[in-house]
Amino acid sequence: MTEIAHFNGKLLPLDQIHVSPLDRGFIFGDGVYEVIPVYGGAPLRAREHFERLQRSMDEIRLENPHSVDEWIALTHELLQHHPGNQSVYIQVTRGAPPKRDHVIPKGLKPTVFMMCYPLASPSREAIENGVACVTARDFRWEKCHIKSTSLLGNVLARQLSADEGATETIMLRDGMLTEASASNVFVVKDGVVSAPPRDNLILLGITYDLLVKLASEGAIRLEVRPIPEAELRAADEVWLSSSTKEVLAVTTLDGKPVGSGKPGAAFRRMHALYQEHKSRLAPRRPVPA
Ligand code: PDD
Repeated sequence: MTEIAHFNGKLLPLDQIHVSPLDRGFIFGDGVYEVIPVYGGAPLRAREHFERLQRSMDEIRLENPHSVDEWIALTHELLQHHPGNQSVYIQVTRGAPPKRDHVIPKGLKPTVFMMCYPLASPSREAIENGVACVTARDFRWEKCHIKSTSLLGNVLARQLSADEGATETIMLRDGMLTEASASNVFVVKDGVVSAPPRDNLILLGITYDLLVKLASEGAIRLEVRPIPEAELRAADEVWLSSSTKEVLAVTTLDGKPVGSGKPGAAFRRMHALYQEHKSRLAPRRPVPA
């Protein structure tokens, strides 16, 4: 039996879902998406994810077929078929017009697709020892704040690290830190955490915002400001954040150790705050007798 997914208002087996080759998502990458982590049936920050989906849709002039509350209800409906820890993937494209034309057609029905797959949380090894990253020039476009399905820039960036057996590619634009191919990046110096500005050059991660909130609640000093390459390279700690990676320490950058070469004290504190936050949200499931 194949998994159940959502397609244009219906729940269907994944292998019975077919998309038109004229769909603008296929032809132009003309669509937006979200990835929401789910712990024991409880989505983490679903509202924030669907609010960001709305912002992405506004940016690409695509009318949202659902309100945030409707999206949340659809997510729970799909999760009935997928217990446990999951990633929910949501994609909305501009739909399938009768012919290929760059101009945005009027009155097109968007294509809505949602699926689940088991959440690949970081391994104990990755949490305890950190991960390797490489750096690259950020050669993507100037609308990185849109969570667009046009991910070729991110795909090519990610491959540079995959080729080296590393976890992520951390990118620099005009000598300033932006983000990684599928994660946000934080640096720590003398106990102060810094994050790049919330502008058009990064995707404003839901996890980024959660770390900012946890830092403020946990009395960790955190500054949002431009971060020059030299600060990235001289940092005591570098972290990655994303809905699937949570928060991870980067312990080597371009083959050189970051700080002591081990996950630092600030990371361990933030990781603990994150786990505590997750445990507060997840419903307590009854222990089977
Ligand atoms: N990626 N920056 C980029 C370019 C990303 O693709 C992602 C997430 C993030 C972190 O965002 P969030 O904290 O909201 O997950 C930052 C997702 C997980 C993906 O494409 O699979």
